[in-house]
Amino acid sequence: MERDTEVQAQRDFMYGELDLGSFTIFSGSFINYGYWGALEPDREITVEERTASQAELYRQVVARLEPQAGAQLLELGSGIGVGAALVAREFDVSVTGLDRSPAQLARAAKANAESLEALRGRLSYHRGSVTEIPWGDGTFDGVYAVEMLQHVDDLASVASEAHRVLKAGGRFAAATFFAPDGADTAPVADLIETVASGVDVVRPVGELAAELTRAGFTEVTLTPIGEHVWRQFDQWVAQTEHRDSWGRNWLRCYENGWIDYYLITAATVAE
Ligand SMILES: C[S@@+](CC[C@H](N)C(=O)[O-])C[C@H]1O[C@@H](n2cnc3c(N)ncnc32)[C@H](O)[C@@H]1O
Repeated sequence: MERDTEVQAQRDFMYGELDLGSFTIFSGSFINYGYWGALEPDREITVEERTASQAELYRQVVARLEPQAGAQLLELGSGIGVGAALVAREFDVSVTGLDRSPAQLARAAKANAESLEALRGRLSYHRGSVTEIPWGDGTFDGVYAVEMLQHVDDLASVASEAHRVLKAGGRFAAATFFAPDGADTAPVADLIETVASGVDVVRPVGELAAELTRAGFTEVTLTPIGEHVWRQFDQWVAQTEHRDSWGRNWLRCYENGWIDYYLITAATVAE
């Protein structure tokens, strides 16, 4: 397990006792900002639409893996596990979820009890860190992460570990927020509490691309998808009791060009 720092303890508290997934800015046991279609600015968003946005982010990420039926996928930071269950069902694959939080794993076991039964061995959740993946070399056809890389201090280890556990010709896909290369990130820490505390790390997206390449990945792509995330997420937050919180500053950071949301893909060399 990776070194437990004070920041790591704050992250564990957020997903443990605090139970971030129970906050109204999230829903349906997902914990991500979502991939949204166009919304009319003044329309009330339903909880079902909020949940659908988070499920759609999963589809956008996993579709980039182009998984064959029966493929073995690993999810990094699987949280409450509803995304992994959706992927196993909709893509007809096996999904192994990995998360470092025992509380999230306990929630996943409960929330997905029916799926664990119905999918008969095609879905499982395990404790461990994405910087020290507890499986052998060449185990998986695809590795993916939905809104989790912002919690990783050591991107080099995630890149090399993901590369190690992938088979030849395997694929990697992830989505989360980064800074556009060359952007000024200093204002983000002034405006976003979790960035100031180090719980969320906002770094230039090119750093991830460089680490993936250094780890041996090829075909690295970075696609900004902020137009599908930030305005709509902000419209949702504005409807909740968090409407006057610093959470509204994400949109401000995006509009100023200090952050964006990215879909990142890469592949290992085929034999
Ligand atoms: C924002 S949540 C995303 C959960 C899920 N992917 C979703 O979209 O609903 C991030 C998750 O990553 C987990 N996590 C953070 N750092 C981790 C690490 N180093 N290794 C494994 N899991 C980690 C947290 O415990 C948390 O459950």
